[in-house]
Amino acid sequence: MSERVVVAGAVCHRGRLLAARRSAPEELAGRWELPGGKLEPGEEPEDALVRELREELGVVARPVERIPGRWTLKPGYVLEVWTVRLLSGDPLPLEDHDELRWLGPDEAYTVDWLDQDRPAVAEVVRRLREA
Ligand code: CDP
Repeated sequence: MSERVVVAGAVCHRGRLLAARRSAPEELAGRWELPGGKLEPGEEPEDALVRELREELGVVARPVERIPGRWTLKPGYVLEVWTVRLLSGDPLPLEDHDELRWLGPDEAYTVDWLDQDRPAVAEVVRRLREA
């Protein structure tokens, strides 16, 4: 069986990273993640990410660069992360989330990130500090 890919976006704007608090399912609700979701059949990862960010946050966004690495979520699912630039819109928690926060590098660990998102978050925070 082939792996299912989940794509997530490290949306960066004015030196801060967007964190999204999950509202479901119960075991993940309240934890924070980089917004994204599963690829649909035949979809390219970057296209899926643009679609997910439009659906979940109501923004038009552009994937910029893949963060090196792939992280296993549960058997058969892997997470890939891109840095993302906002083209238009103000992110709103329209779907899957109940709160959004923009975090500067010194605030990045004030939220309880999903374990599987932490390596990518650490890399993005390192880049924000250098910028
Ligand atoms: O929106 P969609 O139903 O396609 O996907 P989702 O429910 O948001 O995410 C699919 C799976 O990926 C869930 O098990 C999430 O917990 C996981 N995920 C994650 O681990 N890290 C993220 N940044 C995004 C999703």
